[in-house]
Amino acid sequence: MRLDIITIFPEMFIGPFSYSIVKRAIDKGLVEIHLHNLRDYATTKHKNVDDYPFGGAAGMVLMIEPIDRCITHLKGQREYHEVIYLTPDGILLNQPLANHISTKQNLILLCGHYKGIDERVRQHLITLEVSIGDYVLSGGELAAAVLSDSLIRLIPGVLGDETSALSDSFQDNLLSPPVYTRPAVYKDWAVPDVLLSGHERKIHEWQHEQAIIRTQSRRPNLLEF
Ligand code: ADE
Repeated sequence: MRLDIITIFPEMFIGPFSYSIVKRAIDKGLVEIHLHNLRDYATTKHKNVDDYPFGGAAGMVLMIEPIDRCITHLKGQREYHEVIYLTPDGILLNQPLANHISTKQNLILLCGHYKGIDERVRQHLITLEVSIGDYVLSGGELAAAVLSDSLIRLIPGVLGDETSALSDSFQDNLLSPPVYTRPAVYKDWAVPDVLLSGHERKIHEWQHEQAIIRTQSRRPNLLEF
């Protein structure tokens, strides 16, 4: 997978991409991430990327020209399967959407800022709009990092067998069951006996039962399909 991320704050991605599973995936060459500073595509002397909205309203709007120049430059080098804009009014990201997007090879992620981006970008250049939740962030960068992480862990070979994405919460519309590790008793809080029994079938039954109980009590909507 190749991710090209267009942003006015490329440094914001250093943290999210420098640790754990995402870092390992990059190091193993299973994902390539390229950050593009939108200012590098500005055409004005002062490298402006935003301007006041027509009609007058509070806040600034990212201009179409630098965005178009950047996307056109990238598309001139390879084919992209989606050009994704991160925005609170996009389709809500969930596991099925992440699974679907993760099957694509080359993706452009565009991060908005301020009051948003010129609507013509959305009409003519964007193929998919994604929100990571019903709240407003200061920009699309954190959302792009969240989306990237959710995609990268699904790339074959990124997770080992024992941490396979198939056992993640949501993959089967169930939340994950509780997990425990040593010590078996801490203060007087004991791990459920069945987990120490060594009885594989009983352990699996218990885990499945717990997943259902947890889903019913916390996210019953996941069971309605
Ligand atoms: N940009 C600002 N808020 C966002 C959100 N909730 N999801 C995606 N992009 C955003």
